[in-house]
Amino acid sequence: MNKDRDNRNQPYRSVVLRYGERTLETRSGRRLLDVLLENHVDHRHVCGGNGFCTSCRVEVLQGKEHLSPVSALERERLGREAGRLRLACQTHVHGPVHVRAPRATFGRFSPDGDTSD
Ligand code: FES
Repeated sequence: MNKDRDNRNQPYRSVVLRYGERTLETRSGRRLLDVLLENHVDHRHVCGGNGFCTSCRVEVLQGKEHLSPVSALERERLGREAGRLRLACQTHVHGPVHVRAPRATFGRFSPDGDTSD
């Protein structure tokens, strides 16, 4: 399977993605972290996109229905915040969405809602 797509069998189409104040264009089915990095967005991804560190988390402001379903790994890593927060390395974009880096972007994320430096 192409790593840029999740298991939805949808044809590619153009999608507008907002990251904070920036507006990016991509194709549906792309992994969010790849879209950010290809557009030179300085977004943390400490474990290299392998779902271990949670540093790539984003806050979803609009369009969560246009993202791939929250994975079991995201539920494990993000706990009760899964859905409002997503791991960019585990999330695929299928339609218009607005995300931003969460306020506490540094330090270790705790699924209990705490962060530390
Ligand atoms: S880059 Fe580490 S969890 Fe996404």
